[in-house]
Amino acid sequence: MQLIKKASELQAVLAEARRGDKSVGFLPTMGALHEGHLTLARRAVNENDISVVSVFVNPTQFNNKTDLETYPRNVEEDARKLSEVGVDLVFAPGAEEFYTKEEMENRFEFDFGGLDQVMEGKFRPGHFNGVVQVVSKLFRLVAPTRAYFGEKDFQQLAIIRRMVKVMGFKLEIVGCPIVREESGLALSSRNALLTEEQRKLATNIHAVLAESRLFVGQTSVKELHDSTISAINHHDGLEVEYYDIVDGRTLKSVSRWDDTDYIVGCVTVYCGKVRLIDNIRLK
Ligand code: PAF
Repeated sequence: MQLIKKASELQAVLAEARRGDKSVGFLPTMGALHEGHLTLARRAVNENDISVVSVFVNPTQFNNKTDLETYPRNVEEDARKLSEVGVDLVFAPGAEEFYTKEEMENRFEFDFGGLDQVMEGKFRPGHFNGVVQVVSKLFRLVAPTRAYFGEKDFQQLAIIRRMVKVMGFKLEIVGCPIVREESGLALSSRNALLTEEQRKLATNIHAVLAESRLFVGQTSVKELHDSTISAINHHDGLEVEYYDIVDGRTLKSVSRWDDTDYIVGCVTVYCGKVRLIDNIRLK
C-alpha cells in the first residue's frame, strides 16, 4: 500500500498503474475508519484491479466549526487498517494543498433539483455543496471505474447519483448496505465520541425504527411518523432532530403507503451532543 499526500503524485502513480485499461475502485472517506468503511474498502479491492481510498476531512462540507474541529482524525491508524484489507493507494491530502484559496472561499454551487431541500440539507445548510465539491474534484483526480458509498448517508447517495448524471461522469456508483454493530447501532465515525452509556442508549434508534416497520400499512404514515419520534424521544438523552418518511428515489415525503413502491424512513438523533443518522427501508 502506498500513502500519497499530493494530487499530482496520485495522478502520476495512477496513470502508470491503470495502463492496459485496468479498473479502478474508489472509496472516498473522511477517515476515522470503522468496520463499515472497511466493508466498502474490501469491495473496492475485490471488484477492481486497483483500489484507491481517500482520507480527507473536507472543511467545505461542515457548517459547524466545532463539528469540524472535533471530527476524529487518525491518518496513520486509517492507513494501517486499509493496508490490512489490501487497498493499493491511500490519498490523504492536507486541506491547503487540496483546495485553491478560491475554492475554499467561494461557495460551490450545484443544482440539486430539490434533493438538498429536505432532511440533512435543511438542517445543515451548504453541507451538500461541500460534498459535491469534494467528491466531484476527487472523481476528476481518480477517474474511477466504480465508486463506493454507504446507504447510511442515504441523502448523500441520492445526491451523488444525481451529480454523476448532471456532470456526466462515466463511472458506476455502488450503494452499500448499512453495517451495524450486533446491538443494531449503525457504524459511524461519530460513535467514537459516545460514552459507553450513550452507546447503549443509541442502540434504541435502530430498535425503534425496526419495530416501526411492523406497523407499515397497519397505521397511517403520519401516525407511524409521530409514534417513531415519540418512542425515540422517550429515552432520556435521545432527541430526534428530524424523522422523514420519503420516497427512496426523489426523497419527497410520502403521505400514504401506496404513494410509491420504495419508502425509506430517515432519522437524525442527538445523543447528548453527538449527532447520529440512520435509516430504514419501510417498503
Ligand atoms: O460520507 C463521507 O464520509 C463524506 O461525506 C465524503 C463522501 C467522504 C465526502 O467528504
